[in-house]
Amino acid sequence: MRMARTAIETGDLSVDEPGGTDAVLARGLSKALGSGVRRVEAVRGIDLAVHRGEIFGFLGPNGAGKTTTLRMLTTLLPIDAGTALVGGVDVARSPEEARRRIGYVGQLGGADQQATGRENLVLQARLCGMSGAEARRRADEVIEQLELREFASRFARTYSGGQRRRLEVGLGIVHRPEVLFLDEPTTGLDPQNRANLWDEVRALRAAGTTVFLTTHYLEEADSLADRIAIIDGGRIVAEGTPTELKRGLGSASIVIETGLGDGALEALRRELEGQPLVTAVGAAGRSLRVEVTDGAAALQPIAAAISARGVPLEALSLSTPSLDDVFLHLTGRSLRDPGTEAGSTPTGGAR
Ligand SMILES: Nc1ncnc2c1ncn2[C@@H]1O[C@H](COP(=O)(O)OP(=O)(O)OP(=O)(O)O)[C@@H](O)[C@H]1O
Ligand SMILES: [Mg+2]
Repeated sequence: MRMARTAIETGDLSVDEPGGTDAVLARGLSKALGSGVRRVEAVRGIDLAVHRGEIFGFLGPNGAGKTTTLRMLTTLLPIDAGTALVGGVDVARSPEEARRRIGYVGQLGGADQQATGRENLVLQARLCGMSGAEARRRADEVIEQLELREFASRFARTYSGGQRRRLEVGLGIVHRPEVLFLDEPTTGLDPQNRANLWDEVRALRAAGTTVFLTTHYLEEADSLADRIAIIDGGRIVAEGTPTELKRGLGSASIVIETGLGDGALEALRRELEGQPLVTAVGAAGRSLRVEVTDGAAALQPIAAAISARGVPLEALSLSTPSLDDVFLHLTGRSLRDPGTEAGSTPTGGAR
């Protein structure tokens, strides 16, 4: 779960290292929002290192501090304490220079609905300082790259959710940023559009762009991100590749569905509890859920114990930890719980 030794650990944040591996480097990043009783410590001393050319997933529940962090990293919100470098440039000291390296697609999006997709892109390119001809050329390139062709000549207000998101990503990359920040890029999209956007994000990585995206979708972080940081209550609670994070949990569960009645099921439950590698066994209906430290190693002896008892077996399955299990383990809550308002508590709160 540990990240590679970076400037965070060496304490060397002041050196501009264009050839370095960190596209984003933050240390002790903090932000309080609101005032008086409404004051919220939204981000509480975050350390982050995003490697060049990777897709980095910033995962956390509603109110965890994802957007606040992103807005600090992208110069949109002043930093209270700590340091942030993007592409080696200090965002507080050299915001203009940092902005040239940054693409940002906000949670609410920012396309002009009364203009066509192409017009939006040309305007964005002009705002980035390109000449008219250059801007039109760049707009066409982005239209090709993100496959916006079929709707680029329509007013943005006529776009579907997925089309709108793709245009917004296009607006974020017009100036060829080193690092593209996407705040919840697929929220509200149907599975098909979500998968399309994932493909676009992977294509951007293949073209050399570092992508930093926030999400509260576990599947998105798991399948799209090369590495993940999990944020909760303004603090990073874990960082690593999805595999590392899940392996770090070191456990799995075996679900056994039987045709047994209560008494026999309880007897089997007690027997399995005594098996090596088993940490807990829970019963629900006619099935047992066996928590084990090593799924692959425990499966065989458990199957043997069941078979020795002549238990009528209906199904047996092994499930390895998910990122939700990781989150549950670290915070005691599930990311899947609807309405989990795991946001920061006001200053002086219980957290
Ligand atoms: N302007 C503000 N004034 C006071 N509190 C704020 C303000 N903006 C955000 N907050 C609070 O700061 C905390 C972090 O908010 P933030 O928007 O960063 O969360 P998030 O992780 O992006 O959540 P979501 O998944 O809902 O987008 C939340 O508790 C939020 O209510
Ligand atoms: Mg947010």
